[in-house]
Amino acid sequence: MFPVRRSIELVDHPKPELRHDHDVKLRILEVGICGTDKEIARFDYGTAPEGSDYLVLGHESLGEVVEVGDQVEGVAPGDLAVLMVRRPCPHEDCLACRNGRQDFCYTGDFTERGIQKQHGFMTELVVDRDEYVVRLDPGLRELGVLTEPLTIAEKALLQIREIQERLPWTCRDARQAGRAADLDALVLGAGPVGLLGAMALANAGFRVTVFSKNASDSVPARIVEGIGGRYLSAQDHDAAELTDVVGCFDVVYEATGAASVAFEVLRALDANAVFVFTGVPGRKAPIEVDTSTLMRDLVLRNQVVFGTVNAGRDAFDAAVTDLATFRTRWPEQLAALITGRYGPERYAELLHGELAGIKNVIRFD
Ligand code: BGC
Ligand code: ZN
Repeated sequence: MFPVRRSIELVDHPKPELRHDHDVKLRILEVGICGTDKEIARFDYGTAPEGSDYLVLGHESLGEVVEVGDQVEGVAPGDLAVLMVRRPCPHEDCLACRNGRQDFCYTGDFTERGIQKQHGFMTELVVDRDEYVVRLDPGLRELGVLTEPLTIAEKALLQIREIQERLPWTCRDARQAGRAADLDALVLGAGPVGLLGAMALANAGFRVTVFSKNASDSVPARIVEGIGGRYLSAQDHDAAELTDVVGCFDVVYEATGAASVAFEVLRALDANAVFVFTGVPGRKAPIEVDTSTLMRDLVLRNQVVFGTVNAGRDAFDAAVTDLATFRTRWPEQLAALITGRYGPERYAELLHGELAGIKNVIRFD
């Protein structure tokens, strides 16, 4: 992506080499395309690295380790791996970044590969430090590219668990006693982040309902039903009437970026419930919201609303484990998340969103 001349091009990018003992070189196998990439391709987001007039896109990776520095531990040539996205900011007083938790960076001066000031992964070879490389089970060759989008859900789930530790009977004990099935989760949106979130929540024992604009006989609807969830289409139900149809929710996991739907559903939150935002809305006209009622419910019903972005090592580890579990539990549904695989020469159609489906992937081999 060339921000100044506002163009997306296929270019010859210099081959990266190992430069430190802790460097790992990967041959990229697949790169997933998401809403963020499309936003960057519209020049609405993304920044080229300093001194470069372009940004190499791509942050949802899957690669094979081909070379490692002398001090690298944990991965070896031949291993399947994915790369984390965010790199720490330089500020001494950023406790998050200084603790290796740049996904919670305070300053906003972090960088992100393929997004903010660091080249991404849509290239044959990539070099990065071992601390950002996450090893995958070789059996995940066909699905590993879903790791990064799954980390968004995993980070949300890790935080939901921590927040709900305040209710010992629903969370900590429930996990041990397998009682989380008494809890209802509502997922808004049936794109990759929504569907992977639905799988993560179902796998954690929640009863899952997914609400999205896709029709009730669409592929996403069938995926939701295939994992034992309930699917409600916005074509048949109003967001405002969801509570009438299914009752209240203990967890709402928002993955649409549509503020109107989100705030409509916020009203349907149960006592002690958690609402998590993962979607980034585009700029739209303001909507009317009854803030006093929302505030009243938040207080009188002990509710928590939070936002989450990016993922740390803990969420990557959880994603790698869960992906293997999903593959065993729901092989067909998981595979159905990847709609198509295309060569890099199809970049324009892919980045401009001309190819329909859930998750489209660029294949490099
Ligand atoms: C990526 C995150 C990133 C965010 C904001 C998302 O698409 O998955 O890793 O932090 O965009 O740039
Ligand atoms: Zn920071």
